[in-house]
Amino acid sequence: MRTLVFYTSKTGFVKKYAEWIAEELHADLLILGKADCRTIQSYDVIIYGGGLYAGGINGIGRIKKNLLKLKDKKVIVFASGASPETDKVIDEVRNRNFTPVQQKQIRFFYLRGGFNMTGLGFFDRFLMKLLKMKIMSKKNKAIPLDGDETGMLNAMENPVDFTKKENIKDLINYARE
Ligand SMILES: Cc1cc2nc3c(=O)[nH]c(=O)nc-3n(C[C@H](O)[C@H](O)[C@H](O)COP(=O)(O)O)c2cc1C
Repeated sequence: MRTLVFYTSKTGFVKKYAEWIAEELHADLLILGKADCRTIQSYDVIIYGGGLYAGGINGIGRIKKNLLKLKDKKVIVFASGASPETDKVIDEVRNRNFTPVQQKQIRFFYLRGGFNMTGLGFFDRFLMKLLKMKIMSKKNKAIPLDGDETGMLNAMENPVDFTKKENIKDLINYARE
């Protein structure tokens, strides 16, 4: 079985998981921009990883557009966000990014990443500033913040890394089945 792991990563969390997965499966590893359609189609197991940005999986459009061409392959997608890996978060990400038909063809895994402002470009930093202002205005009005909001405020000051190699275990087992 030839296995390809390819990914897009803005601040390195997805990259770290992609490297762990490729190493474990002895798979080839590419960044999304280097993986053209013909290359992807030459593999039996295709694993794509992207970060979560406002609920969407970064770069997932490319995979969804070409799903028909991958109908005989094992297609796995993993997403890394800062949110904790609760069933609620996982279901929301899955249902937001994939239709029920796509969910039959794609096996989805959520691997918790982290948060690091320093690697972000101008646009993402701007979005984060807006989010911070929104949370701060709630705080200033003495409206209680939920766990995600408090976590996000803290992470904007101090980078957090929730990546753990053991998180890839289920994905690896599924890829090997
Ligand atoms: C603008 C922006 C939006 C984000 N939106 C989400 C989100 O909706 N859910 C989440 O869990 N994490 C969110 N995050 C956090 C990233 O998904 C997280 O840092 C991820 O690990 C990034 O992976 P990467 O650096 O490899 O792309 C967001 C981060 C930024 C900068």
